[in-house]
Amino acid sequence: MTQGNQSKIVHPAQRLHGHLKQPPGDKSISHRLAMLAAVAAGESVIHNFLPAEDCVSTLRAMEALGARTFFADDGALHIHGTGGKILEPAGPLDLGNSGTSIRLLAGLLAGFPVTVEMTGDESLRGRPMSRIKEPLEKMGATVDLLGPNNCAPVRIKGGNLQGLEYTLPVASAQVKSCILLAALGAQGDTVVIEPRPTRDHTERLLQALGIPLTVEGLRITLHGLGAKGLPLTARHWTIPGDFSSAAFWLVAAAAQPGANVKIDRVGLNPRRTALLNVLQRMGAHVAVTPQKELGAEPIGAISVQGAALKATTVAHDEIPCLIDELPLVAVAGALAEGDTIIRDAAELRVKETDRIAAMVANLRQLGVEAEEREDGMIVHGPAKLKVAGGVRSYGDHRIAMAMSVLALFAPEPVCINNIACVDTSYPAFWSDLKILGGHAE
Ligand code: S3P
Repeated sequence: MTQGNQSKIVHPAQRLHGHLKQPPGDKSISHRLAMLAAVAAGESVIHNFLPAEDCVSTLRAMEALGARTFFADDGALHIHGTGGKILEPAGPLDLGNSGTSIRLLAGLLAGFPVTVEMTGDESLRGRPMSRIKEPLEKMGATVDLLGPNNCAPVRIKGGNLQGLEYTLPVASAQVKSCILLAALGAQGDTVVIEPRPTRDHTERLLQALGIPLTVEGLRITLHGLGAKGLPLTARHWTIPGDFSSAAFWLVAAAAQPGANVKIDRVGLNPRRTALLNVLQRMGAHVAVTPQKELGAEPIGAISVQGAALKATTVAHDEIPCLIDELPLVAVAGALAEGDTIIRDAAELRVKETDRIAAMVANLRQLGVEAEEREDGMIVHGPAKLKVAGGVRSYGDHRIAMAMSVLALFAPEPVCINNIACVDTSYPAFWSDLKILGGHAE
């Protein structure tokens, strides 16, 4: 959690309008490429790497483990990989607020004969880690959870892993990716079975790097390379725009009749874009134009024209494919006619904060009727927004930005507190708001 208590006043905005030509690089892909390039042989060059706090946490960790990295004058990130070795760092690695860093890195490290301790901020030290301990220990690693309630710090003692067949108890791309990265260094095949489809960036990147990985429905098989080590080779990559960052503007424009926003070069991985289907069901005018694929990912331009929205229900298989956009679905629900229902989303309770409790409290703070459910919420729209006081970010970047989007629709300026957390995933959020005609100070 980013510390500090800076706040922003977000002003009401009429008719957002404009074109974002280069949205920030995808956060999930930035993490994964930083890790893979750091253990590859040679120098990888990564364009549009997301220079946000979470991804910088991964980069710093990879440096402590032996990689060398620098940003060139053209903004590209250069990573000199270790060629399949890991240095044992002098002290614990601090992964800040980043669940993706700690969970994926735990998997990668488990494949090496090293002992490494990882920790993070107060939010990260409150998030569940048994979900990675169980499969990694079944593969032969030792994973000690040193914090209270099976939380970080996490100490990994890796090496000599065996493949396993594992059905994920929760639909989590982080846990899936943790196991696949561990499987790279294991003897034999590892099979991961997902209960529901989750984002598949790791699978796509590993396949692009020539790793023997096959996908049949929800069953992923990776043939481990064991003691032969990782034969990853360096290469050039360009990271697509982050759909989850674009989503703030898609929702802001979709709910505002007269608004018109276009965003280019956005990642369109089908396991990330369920929000587009949800917005279309709600009556939004959304058009997608495919553009030339980047790396292993489909991309395109998304245009949205504002409309009066109607409520919808979001549940089942849709949830993992818009897990990070659910605070925004709640915002859209507040602006739509009828009751918007979010179900099957208990995972929201263990994100950077409890996003169900945080969103319901914040919506009420702006005069929206909303009810908390164990696995989701019901939002009664359309709300007549009123500003009774400030809203709280709870130190969670996505809560801060989702509430900033709702604030654009309020009758008067809204103060959002503890706003520095936005830098966790989207440092350019405020400048992009300005490009689209919004105003915050
Ligand atoms: C991520 C997966 C999701 C998501 C997170 C990033 C990833 O978490 O919420 O922001 O990069 O794999 P879970 O897979 O644990 O739901």
